[in-house]
Amino acid sequence: MRKVSEGQMMRPNRKTNGSGVQAPETRICVVMVGLPARGKSLIAQKVVRYLRWLSVDAKTFNVGQYRRTTTPNPSAEFFDTSNAEGERMRKAAAEAAVTDMIRWFDNGEGLVAILDATNSTKARRRWIQDRCVAANIQTMFVESKCDDEELVMSNIKEVKTTSPDYVGQDPEVAAQDFLKRIRNYEKVYETLDEDEADLTYCKLIDVGHQVIINKIQDYLQSRVVYYLMNLHIKPRSIWLSRHGESEYNLSGKIGGDANISERGQMYAKKLPEMVRQSAGDLQLTVWTSTLKRTIQTSRYLPFEKLSWKALDELDSGVCDSLTYAEIAERFPEDFKARDDDKYNYRYLGGESYRDVVIRLEPIIMELERSENILIVTHQAVLRCIYAYFMGVDQAKSPWMEVPLHTLIKLSPRAYGTQEERYSAKIPAVSTWRGKGSKAQHETPAPGEGTVDVEANGKPPK
Ligand code: SIN
Repeated sequence: MRKVSEGQMMRPNRKTNGSGVQAPETRICVVMVGLPARGKSLIAQKVVRYLRWLSVDAKTFNVGQYRRTTTPNPSAEFFDTSNAEGERMRKAAAEAAVTDMIRWFDNGEGLVAILDATNSTKARRRWIQDRCVAANIQTMFVESKCDDEELVMSNIKEVKTTSPDYVGQDPEVAAQDFLKRIRNYEKVYETLDEDEADLTYCKLIDVGHQVIINKIQDYLQSRVVYYLMNLHIKPRSIWLSRHGESEYNLSGKIGGDANISERGQMYAKKLPEMVRQSAGDLQLTVWTSTLKRTIQTSRYLPFEKLSWKALDELDSGVCDSLTYAEIAERFPEDFKARDDDKYNYRYLGGESYRDVVIRLEPIIMELERSENILIVTHQAVLRCIYAYFMGVDQAKSPWMEVPLHTLIKLSPRAYGTQEERYSAKIPAVSTWRGKGSKAQHETPAPGEGTVDVEANGKPPK
């Protein structure tokens, strides 16, 4: 019987994630800087999701969450710097967040922490810098400086409806209070400047119109900067769909380059109407793989189309065009190894989920730079893209159910990504397979194949 080789079970270590090399002792604190409503929490959340998706252990420490343990619903006066008690409590919250962050680094394998707070004065930043240097942690300050009225107003609108600080409050009263809070911060706000030339920083001006970087030092820092330079924080959505049911799906075979089935054709014809219902008059761009089934599925969409090789289905190597039952019979060791660690298992002559994530990175970068994109792709690829947006754990993402004939709309927000699913109500086989099973067309039992996502438009706990 053939043994599964080491190369087929490649797992990353602390030093490398498969696409870059980092000194093993690295500990980086990304310190957010900026007035409220400048997209800091959205940026922090996105950086953490991106790094975790690349197998870099990262975590956010949000000072507002620490403050909420003592002051859950503060009014604007709490943030007035002449309010000594407010100042004391806010400093205590920052102290608690920094202490927890240092403990997190000391306890484990953490590589990157994000300190999500306004950190709006030079004195506060120097205090953080000193604490981090003493704990052998590199700092990288990331400022979002934005005077774009429209964007600030849209962030205020979102905060008044989604921030835990304003739960249960009248949205208009919440918006007025939040504006006053911003005014209080403006009184003391100091942007990063030449006085802080000794610090490592990245200053994003007006949502990436201008980016100033200073003293960026190593691989991970430059990786984060590159990501930040591609990011835009305007509200927008991304649409995702698998191809319509294919002839291979009907016979339970994986891989290949089959045509879509008759029911797949029906889905392709219905997709334009489903997209119109979800996206209204927006002019989308459709990204497909280079395989026939995604191109055929997007055929009737009245939009520009781009085919990406990087969106092709996970390459199943020697198992291409086999059914799961045939794979279990011909390659039993491989079948078991894949079930044991589906994320890391690499098909002989093919790919693992980890490999797919690495090849999808340019797609994610381009997606972050773009607006109004609909992606028509394949089950494994869609699981990886979905996992990026929803922060799904690597062990769970390869087992997620992503049904055929379903359009998914994802809308990233400051406190999580909102998801809507639209079913075409056109029957299709299920291509989901549970752990240990050889069945071809299973449907997950209730709860199976679903994942607890980090946030679904709700504030993180
Ligand atoms: C907060 O209390 O909401 C955040 C404190 C800060 O970052 O200034």
